[in-house]
This record gives sequence, structure tokens and C-alpha cells, in this order.
Amino acid sequence: MNPPESDVVNVELHPISEEDDVGYIACLTIDRPDKLNALNADVMASLKAVCAWMEEEENVRVLVVTGAPPNAPPEGKRAKPYAFVAGADITEFVGAGRETIRERFTDNAVEALWDLSKPTIAMVDGFALGGGCEVACSCDIRVASDRSTFGTPEINLGLIPGYGATQRLERLVGYGKAHEMVMTGDMVPAEEAHRIGLVNHVVAPEELKSTVMNMARRIGSKSSHALRVGKRAVRAALDEGLTDGVAYEAEIFAEMFDSEDQKIGVHAFVNREKAVWKHR
Ligand code: COA
Repeated sequence: MNPPESDVVNVELHPISEEDDVGYIACLTIDRPDKLNALNADVMASLKAVCAWMEEEENVRVLVVTGAPPNAPPEGKRAKPYAFVAGADITEFVGAGRETIRERFTDNAVEALWDLSKPTIAMVDGFALGGGCEVACSCDIRVASDRSTFGTPEINLGLIPGYGATQRLERLVGYGKAHEMVMTGDMVPAEEAHRIGLVNHVVAPEELKSTVMNMARRIGSKSSHALRVGKRAVRAALDEGLTDGVAYEAEIFAEMFDSEDQKIGVHAFVNREKAVWKHR
């Protein structure tokens, strides 16, 4: 049950319900606030290890991903800004060549996050730039504080996004806006990110955690089986054409009638009872 230990990625477990034993929400914090939680090799390895653990851990039903808030500054110094993640750690690009980068960026932790079969929510407070925007785009749902900023500034380094933004960002905001973000590297404030479909909700910073945890609790109390199948079906919309996608949905919808949770859910509704899921 214990999550993998790491100096740069912390995982806290929160019960989904105070009354019922229905499992946990894992809250993963990328913890390098002095470097705006930039994704170095240690963070990526730890993130991948948490995803592997999460997949195996039946009782952990929802993953929330966030970044650590800034530390108090030393006397007389300016505080560092709030960040979800300010991108890949640029210092690790110095002197790196094609083979090193190919190895580091193929099958990386952002893909592991994307591939998780369980629901994932990005809780964004501050900069979500480059790899940070991509970590957020790899989650199923994004909720941001109103002081957050999104962007793909890799163009300013003579680069393009490398953790999937050219694909996943495009699916969220559309072809024109994705081009604009990738080509200009401009920052997109939270309200605009909301308007263009990049984030689901924008709230005041002091409401962020409760908004996300309430959503995670609501999601976590549903049937894990139905959540897993629903996630697979929505994801199919990204890879399949409409006709094949609808056929796929019909097939897995029918399959669900062999599941225990379907019988429990329907029985509970018609008998005015509360569903107690098997979560298988
Ligand atoms: N990689 C490595 N270190 C990073 C980083 C990154 N992506 N983003 C920020 N940092 C570090 C800074 O070097 C600085 O470290 P230091 O205090 O030890 O010198 C610290 O985080 C704070 O950042 P700083 O730039 O001083 O904060 P700021 O408020 O002046 O600016 C940003 C904030 C986000 C605008 C700026 O840090 C930035 O542009 N970061 C890079 C964003 C980026 O290009 N991401 C894509 C990478 S592929």
C-alpha cells in the first residue's frame, strides 16, 4: 500500500469517504519548488514509479497531480513564483545529443501518466509551461487557480514540445490555437485557458484544493470498473474515426452487462438503494 519513496515526488493518500471503506485518492506532488518543479530525470523516474504502483494498487482509485508551492524565501530575497511545473529541466539539455534525448523522451513518465487506466486530475496552481503543460494535458481533467499560466515556450529554446503537446494540446484546444501556442510560445492565462478548453475549471487559489478533492471524491466513489471502461471509450475517440468509435462504444457497453457493478448499479436504482460497488 505504501507508495514509492522519492525526494522529489511525494504521494499522500486520502480516504475517499469518511464513512465507507471505498479506497483512496493518491495526491502526487512534484516537489522541487526552488526550480519551479521542473521535470528532471529524478522526477520523471519517480513519476513513472508512482504510475506503475498506482496501476497495481487496487484500493487507490484516483490520482491528483500537483506541484509544490514555493518555499519561504531567505531573508531579504524575493519569493519564487507558484508553479505546477515550469517544464523539462532545461539544465539537463545542456550538451545533450539526439540519442540521449530520444532515450529520455521515448516511453517517458508523461506517457505512463497518460496510460494509467484510472482517473487523473491535474491541480494547477501557477506556471504550467512546456512539460508542465504536457503533464496537465496527460491528465483526464485539469483544474487551475486563477493565478495559473499555461504555455509551450519551447520555441524560445529553438525547440518544440517533446512530451506530447503537439498532439494532446491540439486535441484539447484545436488546431489553430495549438499552432499559435507552439509557434509563439506565448503564455496563456488561466481564464483564457478555460475559454479555449485547456482547463475544465478555474477557481480562486484558496478554493483549488477543496474543489479538486471534492471532484476526486465524487469520481472515486463510482464503480472503478465503469470508470476504467469509460476512460477507454473516451480515449478511443482520439484514435478512431466516429463510426468505428461508436461501434467500439456499443461493444464495450454491451460487455459491461457481464459486470457485477452493472447489476449492482441497476438493482440499486430500481430499489431506491445506495449502490455498493464491487470495484472489479
Ligand atoms: N528548468 C530548470 N530550471 C528552471 C526551469 C526549467 N524549466 N524553470 C525555472 N527554473 C529555475 C530557474 O532557473 C530559477 O533557478 P535559480 O533560482 O536557482 O536561478 C528558479 O527556477 C526560479 O525561476 P526564475 O526564472 O528565477 O523565476 P521567474 O519568476 O523570474 O520566471 C518563468 C518564471 C517560469 C517565466 C521562468 O522561470 C521560465 O521561463 N522558465 C522556463 C520555462 C520553459 O521554457 N519551459 C520549457 C522547458 S522545455
